[in-house]
Amino acid sequence: MESADIAQDLEHVLYTRDQIAAKVAEMAAAIDRDYAGREPLLVGVLNGAVMVMSDLARAMRSHLTMDWMAVSSYGAGTKSSGVVRIMKDLTTDIHGKDVIIVEDIVDTGLTLSYLVANLQSREPASVEIAALFRKPDALTVDVDVKYLGFDIPSEFVVGYGLDYAGRYRNLVDVATLRPSVYS
Ligand code: IMP
Ligand code: MG
Repeated sequence: MESADIAQDLEHVLYTRDQIAAKVAEMAAAIDRDYAGREPLLVGVLNGAVMVMSDLARAMRSHLTMDWMAVSSYGAGTKSSGVVRIMKDLTTDIHGKDVIIVEDIVDTGLTLSYLVANLQSREPASVEIAALFRKPDALTVDVDVKYLGFDIPSEFVVGYGLDYAGRYRNLVDVATLRPSVYS
């Protein structure tokens, strides 16, 4: 049974907004340290990374620029299809730039391994990954997340940019959904 109030659809909260903010601040500090004297280009992966991009960038002290890509991997479901398509490409030339891909979550890692290879082919100075969440399956593919927020169990979560069927991105915490939401 679906409710108009988001909170009623939740099963349990994994991370609160305060826990997320503290972790994002740590990630920002690590990036500031590593990129001292450089000016990274943060590439956010739409739509999920909107919240983490917004908070991570503002927690950083260094100069930076931002750009965005949109890729499709999941459709409206909760399982990765393995098919990655670029729906919106970068607007800037990344040749010679220090790129940091900003992602909400790494699940199978298919999206990121595709993105890293794609961006590498444009000859940036470097490409690293910052992701707020990582699931265990990601460890079986070749994706090196340099700036990681939390390792989480392999269950579907929503909030802080993460959606189910387009919804729940505006939830400030990260939570699982009640089974009834899926039926
Ligand atoms: P991957 O290609 O399997 O690593 O999937 C990455 C993308 O799938 C992420 O950028 C998310 O958009 C989406 N995704 C993976 N797991 C979840 C989840 O638990 N909740 C919401 N979206 C997810
Ligand atoms: Mg995403």
